[in-house]
Amino acid sequence: KKPPSRKGSMNDMPRNLLEEIEKLEKLFTVDTQKLKDIVAHFIGELGKGLATDNGTIPMYPTWVMDWPDGTEEGVYLALDLGGTNLRVVEVKLDGKRAFDVMQSKYMLPAELKVGSSDALWDYIAECLGKFIHDNHFGKYDMDNRVALGFTFSYPLSQDSIDQGVLRTWTKGFDIDGVEGHDVRPMIMAALERKQVPIDVCAIINDTTGTMIASNYTDPETRMGLIFGTGCNAAYMETVKNIPKLKGLLPDDIDGDTLMAINCEWGGFDNENIILPKTKWDRIIDEESPRPGEQSFEKMVAGLYLGEVLRLVLLDLYTEGFIFQNENIEPLREAYKLDSSFLSMIEEDPWENLSEVEDLFLEKLGIKTYDNERKLIRRLAELIGTRAARLSHCGIAAIAKKAGLTSCHAGADGSVVNKYPDFKERGAQAFREIFDWDMPVEEFPIKVVVAEDGSGVGAALIAALTHKRTAKGLS
Ligand code: GLC
Repeated sequence: KKPPSRKGSMNDMPRNLLEEIEKLEKLFTVDTQKLKDIVAHFIGELGKGLATDNGTIPMYPTWVMDWPDGTEEGVYLALDLGGTNLRVVEVKLDGKRAFDVMQSKYMLPAELKVGSSDALWDYIAECLGKFIHDNHFGKYDMDNRVALGFTFSYPLSQDSIDQGVLRTWTKGFDIDGVEGHDVRPMIMAALERKQVPIDVCAIINDTTGTMIASNYTDPETRMGLIFGTGCNAAYMETVKNIPKLKGLLPDDIDGDTLMAINCEWGGFDNENIILPKTKWDRIIDEESPRPGEQSFEKMVAGLYLGEVLRLVLLDLYTEGFIFQNENIEPLREAYKLDSSFLSMIEEDPWENLSEVEDLFLEKLGIKTYDNERKLIRRLAELIGTRAARLSHCGIAAIAKKAGLTSCHAGADGSVVNKYPDFKERGAQAFREIFDWDMPVEEFPIKVVVAEDGSGVGAALIAALTHKRTAKGLS
């Protein structure tokens, strides 16, 4: 059987729609030269972030200062507060670069993301309490607590591994009273209130977790990437290349000592110098809880991909190109379409686009015609391709900055895991940026999908942190 076609023809489209599509293609296409220019600017911003506290990319030292050696073992708990879910994970490290996980996922009610600080921490403490109760952690009590690695995936500045001050909320969160504060005392107070016998011994970013977890199973890993609700990267830098750490490290620390850096590259180009922003990217920014922040993330991350599509479709409707005589009210709801909606559009083979037809009917009650479906499909391709190409500029910039000529980059998140062709499009961007002409399988820098980076990484880091003081739980 012939595989479904991934390419469609626009030949039989009416002139006016075709012209609209061509306009959109111009706006969303990032050509080779632009990719290279973005990478060059990115490298400069990475350098600024390492040197000072006022670059657009903050480059936070995470105090994770070593690769795992593979012998880490024991049972650890991890808590992963991402953009969409809350997960509690029990990780068994076998000491031979393999692991087992047992996890419970809890929904993160939407109102908690914009509610009060206590409501958030109490909810988290309750979920942890339930996990401990259901999984018979009975031998622990408030005087003898379980060690937990907390993956808190927001920009944190840290002076040590078990502390972290939230600089700003990202990914649509907006909770008063947390920014500017250390999150550990807040979660510890909630655990105390709910009498949950847990000690938060490490606070980490999901990118750092993904990097460390991937390195545990694949020692060629040098970077950790998240392409999910948000988008970000971590890599290992030597401390002599981090001028802003001067004076903060003990004198006897060798300049070649490693330090994992959580880049927080979502803030790249907050100054609006280089990214090819469209009118719709600007609207997303202006209507977000933190305008002017996370410029790069708002163009590439899963939270925003569906929103770009929705805003373009609304404009095309207003200009009289599509959905005439349809009730488009449901399309007016902000964030109505998520990135899985876009993935599903792109998964539909071009032959008849019946999936697109069903999606629009079911989700929005909008009846679509053949030509409209082609336009929607093409638009999804443009948005998805732009995200893949732009985000790979960041990886290329880190590789160049850190002098990584050959390595693996462990990646996790719904976009890299589920979005059709994301990896292939990213690889094509690498080909153009680095002028590579070898087959993809031979690319010296490879994005490799990680298995549960956030959970296992937090457990491993808890293990590394506890190496001196404890031996895990069992
Ligand atoms: C946002 C957060 C960052 C996280 C990323 C992926 O960019 O600020 O900390 O790593 O999302 O979850």
